[in-house]
Amino acid sequence: MSENYERIAGDFNCKDIVSMNQFDLSDIEELVVEAEDMAEMVKDQGRDDILSDLVIANTFFEASTRTFFSMDAAAKRLGATTIPMQGIEDYSSVSKGETFEDTIRTIARYSDNIVLRHPVEGSAGKAASVSDVPIINAGDGKGEHPTQALLDVFTIEDELEQVDGLTVTMVGDLKNGRTVHSLAKLLGKHSDMRINYVSPPELALPSSIIDENLGYGVSQFETTDLDEVIRDTDVLYVTRIQKERFESAEEYEKHKGAYVVDADVMKKLGRDAIVMHPLPRTDEINPEIDSDPRSAYFRQVENGMYMRMAIFALINGRSISD
Ligand code: NCD
Repeated sequence: MSENYERIAGDFNCKDIVSMNQFDLSDIEELVVEAEDMAEMVKDQGRDDILSDLVIANTFFEASTRTFFSMDAAAKRLGATTIPMQGIEDYSSVSKGETFEDTIRTIARYSDNIVLRHPVEGSAGKAASVSDVPIINAGDGKGEHPTQALLDVFTIEDELEQVDGLTVTMVGDLKNGRTVHSLAKLLGKHSDMRINYVSPPELALPSSIIDENLGYGVSQFETTDLDEVIRDTDVLYVTRIQKERFESAEEYEKHKGAYVVDADVMKKLGRDAIVMHPLPRTDEINPEIDSDPRSAYFRQVENGMYMRMAIFALINGRSISD
């Protein structure tokens, strides 16, 4: 995992956002409050100008829909100008053989923040070590996806009015899915949490993350059988089998369709529970459950923009409530 990061420790100004390891519970709460204010502001007036002096480079070396659009929309709703760049490996000097470090150093000379998605684990930390401007990790290979975890916890608070004391069940490809890596770390910082990890044995959550959470006193349970834990679940967090991270098509085919949440599964889930998914989904959530009020994944998408607005504000030393 990435290790080039500085703790937030109550001060977001000019900090990189690379790993959930940088955060204390109070930092997370500060962001959630700011995100709530952003949601209200957008509903009232659509946009604000608190970042109108800034240029934000949205630098994507890997496919994305939600993270790319929500980062761009978030920056623009706060008045920033953005440099949106997808397919950078084809359209930039990377294709001429420029090193990753030189590319980042260059973009840092033109912009005030760099949002970075990259297929290699650890690349956000590497970028942070050569950039003079804050790097926001928008997913580094099988590593982490901290802004997703932050929007996930914002969604849990928004939907269930609390995080402490809940039972969260993560299901799917917990080995390769970076969103669950960051989310497990983040939930571990809350009190009285129970986290169930449901996956095929080959796709289990990295033991380093489970061990870290042991230190925080989280109750954790691993199983291959969703049925074993579904009835006691408050948040069912479903993930995609990460096709692009497998060595071979056969390996992927072996696990494809391992878990499918459909109307039958929903019958076993509590009345007040919710279903979340970082999206995109493939076959692990049947669209027949989309109209179930407990299906929160499209509300989760919208929350992503508010949380990213909050992140942009705080790392630039601004706040909507100033
Ligand atoms: C996730 C990602 O890119 O890690 N998507 C997202 O950012 N919402 C999840 C995934 O691709 O499965």
